[in-house]
Parts: sequence; C-alpha cells; structure tokens
Amino acid sequence: MKRIPINETPKYLGKQIKLSGWVNSRRDHGKLIFIDLRDRNGLTQVVFVPQEKEIYNLAQKLRNEWVVEVIGKVSQRPKGMENPKIETGKIEVKAKELKIFSEAKTLPFSIETDGHEIGEEKRLKYRYLDLRRKRLQKNLDIRQEVIRFIREYLQQENFIEIETPILTKSTPEGARDFLVPSRLQAGKFYALPQSPQQYKQLLMVSGIEKYFQIARCLRDEDPRGDRQAEHTQLDIEMSFVEQEDILNLIEGLYLNLCKKLFPKKKIKEIPFPRFNYEEVIKKYNTDKPDLRKDKSNPNELAFCFITNFPMFEWHKKDKKWGPMHHPFTKPQTKNIKEINKNPEKILSFQHDFVLNGNEIGGGSLRSTDAETLTAVFEVLSHKKEEIKERFGHLLEAFQYGVPPHGGIAMGIDRFLAIVLNEPNIREVMAFPKTGDNRDLMMDAPSKVSKEQLKELHIKVSKKND
Ligand code: AMO
Repeated sequence: MKRIPINETPKYLGKQIKLSGWVNSRRDHGKLIFIDLRDRNGLTQVVFVPQEKEIYNLAQKLRNEWVVEVIGKVSQRPKGMENPKIETGKIEVKAKELKIFSEAKTLPFSIETDGHEIGEEKRLKYRYLDLRRKRLQKNLDIRQEVIRFIREYLQQENFIEIETPILTKSTPEGARDFLVPSRLQAGKFYALPQSPQQYKQLLMVSGIEKYFQIARCLRDEDPRGDRQAEHTQLDIEMSFVEQEDILNLIEGLYLNLCKKLFPKKKIKEIPFPRFNYEEVIKKYNTDKPDLRKDKSNPNELAFCFITNFPMFEWHKKDKKWGPMHHPFTKPQTKNIKEINKNPEKILSFQHDFVLNGNEIGGGSLRSTDAETLTAVFEVLSHKKEEIKERFGHLLEAFQYGVPPHGGIAMGIDRFLAIVLNEPNIREVMAFPKTGDNRDLMMDAPSKVSKEQLKELHIKVSKKND
C-alpha cells in the first residue's frame, strides 16, 4: 500500500490508507486512545479502539515523537468533535494496523512553540530536533522556493549555472581566509572561497557571457546577526553590459520573486530608487538607508541601489588604503596616474543593493586591463612580485581577449531573514554556527589525529582544550 501525505487524508474519506510519521501527542479518552500523527505535510487524528485488541495494546505504549506507520479507514469525526484549526480536522483515521519504526526519548525542548524562547546553544546542539519545529520547516520550504524561482528566472534569461571550486586560492573580499593544508604539496595551502569572484571573471574570458551560481562562500569573520562563516550568495556575472543592465536584471528578478512568493508584501517604490554614495551619506548618514515609511510594519519592503562609491577607503588602524568593494572593481577614470596620485578622489563602478536598511547585495563593473589593475593593487600596497604571485593568472587571462564585464552577488540568507521577519540569518539556515563559529551538533571544529597532522605536514603550537 502506498503511503499518503497526511494533509491529503480527507480526500480518502471512507477508504483504507497508510500514513507514516511522528506521534505528535497521545490522549486517552475513556476506552479510546487518540494520537495526533504528524508528517512534513500536516497533522491528523488516529483512533485506536479496544476491539482491535492487538494494536490497541501496542498503542498504549506510544509516546511523543515515536515514529510509526498506521493503516486505517478515514472516517468523518462525530458531530461536535471536529477541529477547525487543522486541515484534517473533519476526519479521523480508525486504526487497523500499527507498526512502530522507532521509539524516542523525551525531547530536550518543546518543538510546539516557535522556539525563540529556548536557549540558542541547546537549539543548535539538537538542531535536527529544532528543525522539526513548524517555523523552521516553513523557513526551509520558502528558502527552497526562492532558490527555485531564481534558477528558473535566470535560466529563462539565458544564464548558465556553473559550479566553481571550493578548494582554491585566496581571493580578497575583505575577510580572513579559511585555509586547507595540502597533503601532496607540503607546506602549501588551499583557501576556501570567500566568493567565486575570480572564477566568474575567468568564465567571462571563456565566453560564457551570462553566469550564475547559488554559491557557498566562506569567510573567517566574527559572526553576528546578519553574518555567518558560511553564507550563500546568488552570484552573477555578465559580459558586454553597463552598470544599468545589471541593476535592471536584479530589479526585475526581485520584483517578480516578491510578487510570486510574497504577495502580501508591499514594495515601497518601483522602480527601486538609486542613490549616489555621496548623496545617501549626506541624507541618511549611512550607505544602507532604511527607506520604509513604517518600520514596525512587517510587510513593507523598501529596496534601493547605491552607486558611485569611492574606489578606496582609508584604514586608519593599518594606515593604508583598502578597496571599498574589491580590487577588481573598475575605477571611474581612464587616467591611470590619477589612481596612484589621488586615490581618495577616485570613484568606482560599484553598486550595492539595499533592503530595509540591510546590504543584501553588492557588485561592480570590473577592470579588464592590466595597467589599471596593477595601479589599484599598488594603491592597496601590494608589491610587484606579490601582484604577480596572487593575481598573475587573472592578468594573464586578460591578455587573451577579455570582454567588458561586471556582476553582483546577493546574500540569500539576509534576504530570507528580512522577508521572513527573522531576527537572525541563523533562522533561515539548516545548520548554522554559533557566535564563536562552532557547530555544536557535530562538535566542530575538533581535534584531529597525530597521523592526520603528520600527513599534512602540520605542527600545532597552541591547543584550545
Ligand atoms: P560582497 O562581499 O559584498 O560581494 O557579498 C555579497 C553579499 O553577500 C552577503 N554577505 C554575507 N551574508 C552573510 N554572512 C556573511 N558573512 C556575508 N558576507 C557577505 C551580503 C553581501 O551584500 N564577489 C563579490 C560580489 C561581486 O563583486 O560580484 C562579493 O562577494 O548580502
């Protein structure tokens, strides 16, 4: 017999069906035993009567969260016993067979509530149980819907989705790299990608023209509400485009996505307003303005784009220039000497995408000539040899016919947290890390064996026990 998803039970009134799932609760009323059976799709009431002696006795043992299979007949509930709160509230399943797949210990916390009241450490340690909660299941469902929509939309626009390596070389996005020691190349390290930035630019040299990827990015930075060591970007790169083409693509994508998946949300202004960096700083004292009319209204979405950023920012602590976005961003000048002479005056073709006061995307047009790139690297205090060693492959690639190109990457986790009114991006990820970058469920990071270290040519000088 084929298993029926629980929410479809009412369609089978009068018929015998098979259901499987978790015991959500058990109640004994007089001689009858009731369980609410839960699967991913819903909840329904199952009744055990004393006449079915064998399974009735078995049902007496059932406890919350046991995993079972029930075969029984779908019947109308007696008058006055309906439950209008649930989809299957007019029917119940009269059990004829019961199979116990697995028993369960008492859970360390309730999964009935939205879970915000439970300590985070506990929730993350037992994340697989935390994820049984309706709110988180809904968040994962919506995450999937959003990603599905993005894929279909971009594929229709003739983009091609390409996976890029996870074991790679350091690419500067402003955070520390996670490093992976190489066994075969003693003393050398891979870096995990802070983003696929250089690969996607190299794909433009390959003639791909329209690339996207739902890309995992890894940055060793201190986590906060809108920041994790691992996050997911919708990463895009396009050839033969102006900045306006990129912004229009993103505007179209997010407008259609919100209309289809979040029809209750009101978008404050269409087309999305565009601000100059200087103008937005003057007016709002931030480059991530929150343009909502009513900030307590959970259904308002205020998108905007910021352009004309300065190319460089002065890092007081290190007494040196850093890139406002990243060094591959194209400066708004053709005068290369000017880049070295007056870095503070140079604007760039960077664009940020902002929603309700949060940066949910950023990108730029890219420099494609070696002279400009070298001048930028020099302002950023890279020595000539270092430029060659770190970025030589890109400079070389650009000598073989490079199209003008540009792109953008959107933070999927941040967007979801905002549209789902979640206070933290952890709530929209299946397995996030704690505030000090630990995975409490897997107990990672963890020690490795002496043999492993030896193979990797690594000596540990300080241990954290
Ligand atoms: P950027 O570094 O601006 O650009 O990142 C793009 C977007 O990714 C999101 N984001 C994060 N989300 C959660 N946790 C993090 N630690 C985190 N870091 C970034 C933000 C941000 O706007 N390669 C360039 C893009 C390009 O130039 O095309 C890049 O990664 O929403």
